[in-house]
Amino acid sequence: MVIGISATIQIIQLPIQIKANSLDVIRRPFLKWAGGKSRLIPRINKVLPEGNRLIEPFMGSAAVFLNTDFDRYLLADINPDLINLFQFLKKGNSTFIDISSEYFSEKNNTEKVYYALREHFNSLDAGKERAALFLYLNRHGYNGLCRYNQKGIYNVPFGRFKRPYFPAKEMEFFAQKAKRATFVCEDFRKVMQRSRQGNVIYCDPPYVAASATAYFTQYAHQSFTPQCQQDLAESAKKSVRKGVKVIISNHDNAVTRRLYEGATIHSFYVQRNISCDGEKRKKVKELLACY
Ligand SMILES: C[S@@+](CC[C@H](N)C(=O)[O-])C[C@H]1O[C@@H](n2cnc3c(N)ncnc32)[C@H](O)[C@@H]1O
Repeated sequence: MVIGISATIQIIQLPIQIKANSLDVIRRPFLKWAGGKSRLIPRINKVLPEGNRLIEPFMGSAAVFLNTDFDRYLLADINPDLINLFQFLKKGNSTFIDISSEYFSEKNNTEKVYYALREHFNSLDAGKERAALFLYLNRHGYNGLCRYNQKGIYNVPFGRFKRPYFPAKEMEFFAQKAKRATFVCEDFRKVMQRSRQGNVIYCDPPYVAASATAYFTQYAHQSFTPQCQQDLAESAKKSVRKGVKVIISNHDNAVTRRLYEGATIHSFYVQRNISCDGEKRKKVKELLACY
């Protein structure tokens, strides 16, 4: 079945207080993640159509997976550490949670131990220990950042948190729900090609620059170029032709309006940290493009 692409652009201001689809509480991800979508869950659920599988090519900390109720999920990200961790949590369940919790101790919350464990993490191949340490680094590192240098070495500085929280309950919920999910470490273009009629794709890519002074495009050790943004819009249109519904989050500006021409646009303001220390806050305009 071929589904046409809507030719209209609508600006719809959604109300702020909306309940998530058939879910009373917002489930928090167990990882800190730049661009995490927890705060936008009510808005996203409002526009997310029903389908036989949800595909997330940019799953990050999985806020959307945790707060939706599809029978099956295909969850993907280009960051191999993220996918390695999710796969071990799904496989290992409470055993893996116990192993991970052992790194969360007072003696491990010092600069010296943090850097030693970071170095050890960088020396390891993908596996259970690297997965557990990725969670330790995420919760003990600066501002929940995830950053690698050009050689792929994880290089986030120590975070100086008083007592980093070990997210046992959040991990248990994730592991339970992961039974419905398949995790893959792949580029979004390949992931979107896997979509089939009746699927829904929610895309939360690294955003285009909101302005010349504010942008953040590096999550793994690759950057998300304007060509990637263009390819994403093209992949969305190709998926729609297969009978797949696609929703994309991004900044709302002239660039994205051009990219998502033909989609229905839901536009709204969100509060954003605009400086590294998180003290300066500002409202920026975002959109959900619905194909
Ligand atoms: C804005 S974050 C997603 C946040 C997620 N929705 C959440 O709630 O945590 C964007 C994600 O895209 C991933 N990413 C970057 N380039 C990618 C690519 N080419 N293919 C797939 N994923 C990519 C990053 O690793 C990052 O996790």
